[in-house]
Amino acid sequence: MEQIVNELPQHIAIIMDGNGRWAQQRGLTRGDGHRAGVRAARQIVMACRERHIPFLTLYAFSRENWGRPRAEVSLLFSLLTQFLGDEVENMVANGIRLQVFGEVGTLPAPVRSALESALRRTAKGGEMTVNLAMNYSGREEILRAVRRIAASGINPGDITEETFRAHLYSAGQPDPDLVIRTSGERRLSNYLPFQTAYSELYFCETHWPDFTPAELDRALAWYAGRERRFGLTSDQLSEK
Ligand code: FPP
Repeated sequence: MEQIVNELPQHIAIIMDGNGRWAQQRGLTRGDGHRAGVRAARQIVMACRERHIPFLTLYAFSRENWGRPRAEVSLLFSLLTQFLGDEVENMVANGIRLQVFGEVGTLPAPVRSALESALRRTAKGGEMTVNLAMNYSGREEILRAVRRIAASGINPGDITEETFRAHLYSAGQPDPDLVIRTSGERRLSNYLPFQTAYSELYFCETHWPDFTPAELDRALAWYAGRERRFGLTSDQLSEK
């Protein structure tokens, strides 16, 4: 049986879990954990850029995260706003285009304006796309696409997979080849449910603040050894 050796993934999607546990283990506050998480995110964006991975999606704030204590939600928003302000020049200099997956309209005004400004300023980035999933819910993304398709008046028989994809936040982008979730949890938590149908799933115990470029390389090495079959038999694949 021929082993299909993968190239680098074209799209990596990450669930950055474990900031709170990382902080707790060190006797620090959850806020300290999120601040360390931001530093890790910055490093991983650059590591993906250096490794020529064209698409990276980071789960920064889920719709369900609104249920956290108010002070933590505000802190997360202020860290994300600060991150956008601090990183925009670096993104422009590195040809990184920022995109947002999620409902921007209901985010607090300072977050919205930081996002809109970063989107505008990075719009010409041609080397890499970084998608920030902000106020994102995968099921809501699917419902939003259904509503938009229905509103377009299209004949139901004419709705294809392509029609559907064109109404997702990820329109025009390849599906994630690799999903990484840190901190031991083994679930996707409403993250890109349509797009991850064939993704390889990598779970590690490392808490997000400790997820270094070396850890990323471990995930990439694991990915390179996976046989991706897309529903075909191994024999069919080796004939391709
Ligand atoms: C998980 O830790 C992380 C989040 C809730 C998302 C926020 C992520 C960051 C602030 C990292 C930086 C991101 C960007 C894009 C700059 P948790 O609080 O769920 O950890 P726990 O499960 O251990 O409590």
